[in-house]
Amino acid sequence: MKFFIDTANLEQIKEAQDLGILDGVTTNPSLMAKEGIKGEKKILKHYVDICNIVDGDVSAEVIATDFKGMVKEGEKLAKLHENIVVKIPMTKEGIKAIKYFSDKGIRTNCTLIFSAGQALVAAKAGATYVSPFIGRLDDISTNGLTLIDQIRTIYDNYLFDTQILAASVRHPMHIIECAEIGADVMTGPLSAILALMKHPLTDSGLAQFLADHKKVNG
Ligand code: E4P
Repeated sequence: MKFFIDTANLEQIKEAQDLGILDGVTTNPSLMAKEGIKGEKKILKHYVDICNIVDGDVSAEVIATDFKGMVKEGEKLAKLHENIVVKIPMTKEGIKAIKYFSDKGIRTNCTLIFSAGQALVAAKAGATYVSPFIGRLDDISTNGLTLIDQIRTIYDNYLFDTQILAASVRHPMHIIECAEIGADVMTGPLSAILALMKHPLTDSGLAQFLADHKKVNG
C-alpha cells in the first residue's frame, strides 16, 4: 500500500518524508488556501517545492470546471514536474478531460468520488487514480469503507489499471481497514500516519527495557 500525505504544508511533508515511508502527496484548493498560498505564480511554485521534497506523485488540482479550461490548466500543471498528477473533479467535463489526458499519457487523479458508478466511469476514461472520500461519507452516516470494497471488486473484475486512492482518511483505523480491503494508496493527515506507530505496550515495554538496562549498567 502506498502512503500519500494529504496536505500542502511543507513542514509536515518534510516530517513525513523523513520517516522514509512516504510515496506521494495530495493537495486540493482548500489545503492550498489553508497554507495561504494565493495567486497562480505562487501556487505553481508551491507545487514545485512539494515535488522537490518528495520522490513520488504529487496531485495538483485544476480550478477550471469546463473541459477546455481543465485541459489548459492541467497541461500547465503537468509541465511543472514529472511527478505531477493532474487532479480533476468527477464531472462530465472532468471525465472528458481525464480521457484527453489519458490519451496523451498525462497522469490524472479523479477526485470527489462518492459512488461506485463514478469510480467505474473514471476507470473507463483512463484515470491513473480515483479518490473516494471515505471520511466525508462516514460524516453523513454512510460507510466509506463499503465504497472502497465495491470499487476493489469492480476493478478486479475487469482488470482496470486505475489505482484506488482512499482519500479523506481521518484516523489510523481507516488506513488499516483500507489496507485489508486492498486499496492501492491511502492519503491522510500526518496525525493518522504517526498514530499507526503508537501503542501503549510499546511505550511501557521500551521504558521497562531501558530501566532494566540502567539497573545493571548504571
Ligand atoms: C483528497 O485528495 C482530498 O484532498 C482529501 O483527502 C479530502 O479530505 P477531507 O475530507 O479531510 O477534506
